[in-house]
Amino acid sequence: MRMGFGRRGNSYIFCFRALVLLSLGIYVFAARDLLSEAPAGADPLSNIQIPAILQPPSGFELHAAYPAKGYQYYRYNGSYWVNFNASAILRDPATNKKVARHFFLTTPDALGGQPSWESHNPRSPSIVTAKSIESIHVSKHSINWVRLKATHTTGSRKEFRDVAFVQRLATRAGLPPISTKGAKVGDVRKSKYSAVYTFYVPS
Ligand SMILES: *[C@@H]1O[C@H](CO)[C@@H](O)[C@H](O)[C@H]1NC(C)=O
Ligand SMILES: *[C@@H]1O[C@H](CO)[C@@H](O)[C@H](O)[C@H]1NC(C)=O
Repeated sequence: MRMGFGRRGNSYIFCFRALVLLSLGIYVFAARDLLSEAPAGADPLSNIQIPAILQPPSGFELHAAYPAKGYQYYRYNGSYWVNFNASAILRDPATNKKVARHFFLTTPDALGGQPSWESHNPRSPSIVTAKSIESIHVSKHSINWVRLKATHTTGSRKEFRDVAFVQRLATRAGLPPISTKGAKVGDVRKSKYSAVYTFYVPS
């Protein structure tokens, strides 16, 4: 009995130690992750040259710019890996808090918009859906930079209600698989990426 208890006691201590080490590890990992982000208050556009072709027309001004991380989704259609969805989290560059999520509507809206951004506002989420109108190849390692035109918006003016243009800039990775070898129609692959999204409203 005693030995049994002792062993159980030891294993509790072991578990407790493992838990402490684990949470310490998670803490260190989280802290390191935070530090590797832009410093608090940093302007996500400070190191980005926006190509002229991606600029919105005159009469529009920047409303918000958020760094985002997530995945692009590709489905094999028999010839190509076709980008059909995305899933990314946009964060406030100053607080690192989640401000919105990016996804594609299940089907395009009446004006052909599908990529969408939804504010992280449980009471009344604001959504902008848009359609890509300009796309430029910047790096062979990353998905294109694009300018999109809003096709539908909902919610608050402070969020996405008045947004007319969206840009995807400073992309990193997110490309489809290099090969289609062995792929079957309907196969899905996800590809990790990061970008900066900007939102423009009438000035
Ligand atoms: C597959 O996607 C490509 C690129 O979007 C398109 O041109 C082609 O028609 C599609 N093929 C089929 C079978 O849907
Ligand atoms: C994209 O994924 C979201 C969930 O993250 C889903 O609600 C949406 O319907 C998907 N869109 C498409 C086109 O599959």
